[in-house]
Amino acid sequence: MNTIITDPSAASRREFLKTTTKTAAGLSVLSGISLPHVHAAGSDEIRTALIGCGGRGTGAASNAMGIQQRVTRLVAMADVSEKRLKGSFEALTAKHPDRMSVSEDSKFIGFDAYKHAIDSLRKGDVAIFTTPVAFRWVHFKYAIEKGVNVFMEKPICTDGPTARRLLALNEEAKKKNLKVGVGLMCRHCRVRGELFNRIQDGEIGDLLMMRAYRMQGPIGSAFTLPRDPKVDTNELQWQIQRFHSFLWASGGGFSDFNIHNIDEACWMKNDWPVEVQASGGRSDRGDYIDQNFDHYSCEYTFKDGAKLFLEGRTAIGTHNQFATQVHGTKGSAIVSTAGHFPSKAMTFNSQKMQRSNIIWRGKQPEPNPYDLEWQDLIAAIVADKPYNEVERGVKSSVTTAMGRAAAHTGQVIRYDDYINSPFEFSPGVDKLTMDGPAPIIADANGKYPVPQPGILKDREYAMEPQANPFPLIPMAPAPVEEPLSPPERQKPAAKKKEAKKA
Ligand SMILES: NC(=O)c1ccc[n+]([C@@H]2O[C@H](COP(=O)([O-])OP(=O)(O)OC[C@H]3O[C@@H](n4cnc5c(N)ncnc54)[C@H](O)[C@@H]3O)[C@@H](O)[C@H]2O)c1
Repeated sequence: MNTIITDPSAASRREFLKTTTKTAAGLSVLSGISLPHVHAAGSDEIRTALIGCGGRGTGAASNAMGIQQRVTRLVAMADVSEKRLKGSFEALTAKHPDRMSVSEDSKFIGFDAYKHAIDSLRKGDVAIFTTPVAFRWVHFKYAIEKGVNVFMEKPICTDGPTARRLLALNEEAKKKNLKVGVGLMCRHCRVRGELFNRIQDGEIGDLLMMRAYRMQGPIGSAFTLPRDPKVDTNELQWQIQRFHSFLWASGGGFSDFNIHNIDEACWMKNDWPVEVQASGGRSDRGDYIDQNFDHYSCEYTFKDGAKLFLEGRTAIGTHNQFATQVHGTKGSAIVSTAGHFPSKAMTFNSQKMQRSNIIWRGKQPEPNPYDLEWQDLIAAIVADKPYNEVERGVKSSVTTAMGRAAAHTGQVIRYDDYINSPFEFSPGVDKLTMDGPAPIIADANGKYPVPQPGILKDREYAMEPQANPFPLIPMAPAPVEEPLSPPERQKPAAKKKEAKKA
């Protein structure tokens, strides 16, 4: 293994239809087309480099190597943890012995290991970004410089500055005709695609309300007990390995987990919310010292007044639900039933989602969307068709982040204000070093700052000035509607009296 520490010191439904393209029977435009052999690098093989060799990274690399349209090879791996890289390498070698081409010299450890992995690729190959989201823009910037295609996991940003940076970088990616996939795999689900078309065709009327649930027990690394410095000697590494616990690294469990359900609800609405209000709290956190709330409740509002309610909870002994449902003027629909896959999507001719009211149900069994998102990306590369999911990924990530920020500050937050806000969780993330300090430090009691809604209204947690490079921003106040004037209020009653008289 190349263990060089590469780091130097170590509107209405129809209106929407005019502006968006429907999915052809829920299928990718590229599906079923016989693909010409036009790989940019002059070879039939498409090579990938994995940056972030954890659970999802290993899964994504495996999905990529499972592609049948074209031979895909993994040629380089990068991580900040040698142990994680080794585990991933062994698992992938066992599963894809014929497609693994990662030599010892192509395994890189460190904060700039990503550069070496990307340097192993040729134009037209694919870099896979599956680190915590904090590093997304850093890695994307370099991949664009090098002219390689990208698959990046969700979320892709957690605050305004990183959202804007990604959009600006993406303009460069588009100029270079790079293909960029974003890991919101449910967007590639064929059954949900058919549901979207049915909803846009008016099968259940105009959508007025959507409900998204991600309610479960403790999940991922979102619950963290104090670090034992004898075991976990490096605070930064420990925070990165427990990234769901630290807002700078992941946007917390909220951004990392709730995004899928928020995204698929917005997809069905074919729009993005303009504002959100939310609440949440730490009611059962015990000795855990991470920065998450254990329950969140958000009310998103769309420009036509429609609502999306999100319930997010991580608590033992409570009702579990992992689903998205939508309600229209003529009926309702299930977008996802119990997880990401299978969706078991269906439409109903009533608000009651019961068997006797079913209009349509998605064909079973459903193909795995984690495979489909790779089939679609590779098909676009092979056919050299435009393929870029970054703008949608940014909108989805910002919509999610503003819900989190609304709960954490107790303020109403508008989409436009949030994406233009200067608040950045980790401005120096591109300069982190293996032995350097972590972006957030614990207090004398070993506790990290947590959100204090209503007390801290302009940032998501308290930061010591010396440890706090983040500017404070006043979040926009809630839009106040003009109150009805007294005469207007009295009008209906007065009319009633007159009617009675008549
Ligand atoms: N689409 C999905 O359904 C889905 C599912 C799981 C995870 N994800 C996303 O994938 C990403 C990773 O999640 P995971 O569950 O695999 O986490 P993980 O902790 O298992 O893996 C993350 C890996 O990245 C490495 N890493 C961290 N910072 C790095 C850096 N700067 N350079 C190189 N390597 C670095 C870590 O050491 C670790 O091996 C997250 O953004 C998460 O939201 C998506």
